[in-house]
Amino acid sequence: MPNGSILVIDDEAEIREGLELLLSSEGYAVASAETGESGLAHLEQEPYDLLLLDVNLPGRSGLDLLRDIRQRDPDLPIVLITAYGSIDMARQAFKSGAQDYITKPWSNDELLAQVASAVEGRRLREENVQLKRALKQRYNFPNIIGKSERIVSLLDLVAQVAPSRATILIVGESGTGKELIAKAIHSGSARADKPFVAVNSGSIPIDLLESQLFGHVKGAFTSAVASKKGLFEVADQGTIFFDEISTVGLETQAKLLRVIQEREFMRLGGTENIKVDVRIVAASNVDLLGLVRDGRFREDLYHRLNVIALNLPPLRQRRDDIPLLVDHFLRQFSKENNRPLARFTPQAMKLLMDYPWPGNVRELENVAERAVVLSAQEEIDVDLLPDPILTRGMLGNSRLQLSELLNSLAKQGNQGTAAGQPVPSLFEIMEQIERRVIVDMLEQTGWNQTEAAERFHVPLSTLNQKIKRLGIEIRRRSVGAVQGTL
Ligand SMILES: Nc1ncnc2c1ncn2[C@@H]1O[C@H](COP(=O)(O)OP(=O)(O)OP(=O)(O)O)[C@@H](O)[C@H]1O
Ligand SMILES: [Mg+2]
Repeated sequence: MPNGSILVIDDEAEIREGLELLLSSEGYAVASAETGESGLAHLEQEPYDLLLLDVNLPGRSGLDLLRDIRQRDPDLPIVLITAYGSIDMARQAFKSGAQDYITKPWSNDELLAQVASAVEGRRLREENVQLKRALKQRYNFPNIIGKSERIVSLLDLVAQVAPSRATILIVGESGTGKELIAKAIHSGSARADKPFVAVNSGSIPIDLLESQLFGHVKGAFTSAVASKKGLFEVADQGTIFFDEISTVGLETQAKLLRVIQEREFMRLGGTENIKVDVRIVAASNVDLLGLVRDGRFREDLYHRLNVIALNLPPLRQRRDDIPLLVDHFLRQFSKENNRPLARFTPQAMKLLMDYPWPGNVRELENVAERAVVLSAQEEIDVDLLPDPILTRGMLGNSRLQLSELLNSLAKQGNQGTAAGQPVPSLFEIMEQIERRVIVDMLEQTGWNQTEAAERFHVPLSTLNQKIKRLGIEIRRRSVGAVQGTL
């Protein structure tokens, strides 16, 4: 299978042939057309992954043609070929929907990188569309993205258990998609058109939580001036989702157990049993068994909840899904902000692939939104990634080991505490690590900032900003005189 199919529209035979040769040697299937009209005919006959379009066509201009093609196929990536790489040209091109442009004469490496990134973007988008369609057909989970084995087998299990009334416990780190899965379970059940009620017990004081869950009768407590239905009654026939179930106190746990077992409860201050038919889904990001051992969670409730357990994998254990999720969120936020479709540069993408994502999908979602909002262009480079991702990427390219840095910082911290100095904050520690890594790289490169920036895969301007912010004193390029100081 070719790497992708590319159509070249250019009136100069030399350019067409040159591109055909170059691109086919890289494994692309290439077709070419001399005029806009024959180009359009090609596009109508066959789907292409990328169009390379000359701006200066005789007759109809490339930009004019571009608008026409955009209307017919809003998704086709188009890269313009132009003789003048003016800002004005670029602006015009982006405005009319091209995603990039190449100036003549080009460097083959650069051209191939641009082509690869455009084709890869197209492939990902198509994969996402197909994936969504397949998931939708199979399970009707339109907004869950993932093709990794862990996610696919999880969704299989979700589809299997959703229709039953069984209580389900969803376990996973923060931001892994627990609520999303809980909603999928609800919409995959016969209760789909009945209420889905989410309860986050973490932030609510116990009395208030119980009155919210079970309701109360008039006069149950001073402010209970009228009777009120609780969430269990609101969720009758539907699903109730207990987010962070571990935060529910032991007293309330006993009442929950009763609802699960007897399917009935009393309003606060009431004497009458109320029957409900509610499916219970609970989520936790801590190990409930550990809490059971510590006597902070009822063992019987644990077993009742844990009839079916779904374990959501952290994002770092399913890195295959990162590009798909990135594409999904870039689409979403570009659209929400009325912007042309944004994409990350290959360097930025590499940092995203390597990052451990402690906040999982939610963190990735936030990174994508921030980048789209802050970026002035479609192409988002590493400088718009938040500091932890950038710093980690830089550390990866430094010869310093994290363990070594931490040891030296710990030693310093101990000396500081012994001397009665305050222990540095996390932020200060991160800054110190960053400073060490940057100084180290500068030493390695003989204080050549351009080279250091290249080796860190960050723009020179980003490195400069960091150097300024961290107050690193720039030594002239005399390696001998350098002493790395924290
Ligand atoms: N597989 C996925 N595909 C698309 N979006 C996802 C996926 N997993 C999570 N998300 C998105 O990530 C965000 C976090 O998901 P969710 O709120 O379900 O996580 P959570 O596990 O409940 O997190 P927390 O423990 O912090 O409450 C949501 O915006 C959700 O839509
Ligand atoms: Mg949640």
